[in-house]
Amino acid sequence: MDDILKMPNLGKDILKVLVSEKELDEITSRLAREITEKFKAPAERGEKIVMTAVLNGAVIFFSDIIRKIDLPFEIAFMTASSYGKGATVSSGNVKIDMPRGFDVFRNAHVVILEDILDSGNTLSKVMEFIKTKDILSISLCALLDKPERRKTHVDVDFSGKVIPDEFVVGYGLDYSEMYRNLPYIGVLKPEIYNS
Ligand code: IMP
Ligand code: MG
Repeated sequence: MDDILKMPNLGKDILKVLVSEKELDEITSRLAREITEKFKAPAERGEKIVMTAVLNGAVIFFSDIIRKIDLPFEIAFMTASSYGKGATVSSGNVKIDMPRGFDVFRNAHVVILEDILDSGNTLSKVMEFIKTKDILSISLCALLDKPERRKTHVDVDFSGKVIPDEFVVGYGLDYSEMYRNLPYIGVLKPEIYNS
């Protein structure tokens, strides 16, 4: 509960903390160790590695974890739209774009750092698309996983934490573009959705 009290203005809308700051730090450290281990040899062979993420939800997770991955790599962001403003269900219609251009994936080991795996619809489309580029490999690292909501199968190579089917905010995750700056992951009070 002390996590909520640290940010009382935003925290008053939070019903409960699901993943605390301390646990997020432990999870990102473990995932970073696993990723470092897996790509140590390819990096030593001089193969290109690209860390990528879908904006905006993954940015905080992304910036925390990449500073713990002890490898040489490039970073490049993608945009994909599937959620309407204020909506809590996936539309299934995914548009993918990339400011740096998709050439950055060519001849690279691509690692997707994703905030949350929900229906899997967005991620499966993004992964299908990346596989059409001339890549060496593709891996998925998901901070949170809601397996109960899965509609499309996706292979997760690095898994942070499995959570129940609850809509969560904070640490990059939003409700109607808000609450991304909460330093922990929490469940909103029901009256926030209903007001
Ligand atoms: P999917 O295509 O249903 O897997 O959509 C995944 C995306 O939906 C994530 O990258 C998030 O942006 C968003 N999302 C899914 N579940 C939640 C949640 O509980 N809170 C906030 N955003 C979520
Ligand atoms: Mg979102």
